[in-house]
Amino acid sequence: MATTTIPGTTDARLRLHRVGGGDGAPASFAADVRRGLTSTPKRLFPKYFYDALGSALFDAICRLPEYYLTRAEDEILARRADDIARAAREGFGERAPVTLVEFGSGSSTKTRRVIEALLRRQDGLTYIPVDISVSALEAGARALLESHPQLRVEAYAGDYDAALARLGERRGARGRTLALFLGSNIGNFDAGEAEDFLRRVRSVLRPGDALLVGADLKKDAGVLEAAYDDPLGVTAAFNLNLLARINRELGADFDLRSFRHVARYDGRAGRVEMHLESTRAQTARVSSLDLEISFGAGERVHTENSYKYDADDLSGLAARAGFALERTWRDAAGLFSSNLLVATSRDDAA
Ligand code: AVJ
Repeated sequence: MATTTIPGTTDARLRLHRVGGGDGAPASFAADVRRGLTSTPKRLFPKYFYDALGSALFDAICRLPEYYLTRAEDEILARRADDIARAAREGFGERAPVTLVEFGSGSSTKTRRVIEALLRRQDGLTYIPVDISVSALEAGARALLESHPQLRVEAYAGDYDAALARLGERRGARGRTLALFLGSNIGNFDAGEAEDFLRRVRSVLRPGDALLVGADLKKDAGVLEAAYDDPLGVTAAFNLNLLARINRELGADFDLRSFRHVARYDGRAGRVEMHLESTRAQTARVSSLDLEISFGAGERVHTENSYKYDADDLSGLAARAGFALERTWRDAAGLFSSNLLVATSRDDAA
């Protein structure tokens, strides 16, 4: 395209709201680090992986041959984006524009497929990405705005709870909503948390609105463990960056070389667990928390759960949260699933 009239610069079409819990919330990071490292067993929340370096490392993970999730989901979206867009618009007037919301958008790479499918069916589009990482949000938004002059982006930097509260206030102002929760982000929640989260998403939607959930499927432990413990060590760096971030932001002195990355699939629980294991007895100091933390040799800090799903898991979960599971698509190799949930009419206000 040579000379197009661009309605507004990309900046005029981008609004970024900082809500609670995001990169701009150092107080909660410090409090969660204190709580997590003084409890038994020690743990840290995965949302803190995603500072600027962690987000870049995650993007690198998505390019690893062993981390099949991103490519499998992108394959599904490439084939099915038009079905998804059609389903989201079904039953509504030709002119009713759909608003696209995305939880955990990261740098929005896969979202492009859905955005383009919607723009084949409507003139303009408001895209509302929500992510913990300001750097990923901004980079993703700018790239999309540059290639799509009909797009407006209203980004929320923060955690899901804070963003959901804001989206709830503005529910009346939107028409139809298609919400996305891609990339197996749901995998970070245990069963109760997943239901809770979907229920809260349901509460900012209206009956007939759709939610597309990407869920990784249960499979052979070897395939799963390779995806979370790659030979290049990118996932190890992603995990260790959590301690590096505590060093940077909270003035700690963790010796990164004496912790090792551990990723194991627990088939009974249906989840990959990531840990950081202390390879020797040691003490670290977190100066801005005025805190000393001792580790035994072999002691672990639990940093992430990545739950894997079965075909049935999703339909029960959807029903309990006020959705009907309308369709499931898989990639050709059957590794990953995209699930289209439609908000049912009970509990509109929950
Ligand atoms: C972003 C939560 C979907 O669990 O697969 C990737 C994060 N951790 N490798 C996942 C992750 C290690 C990822 N999610």
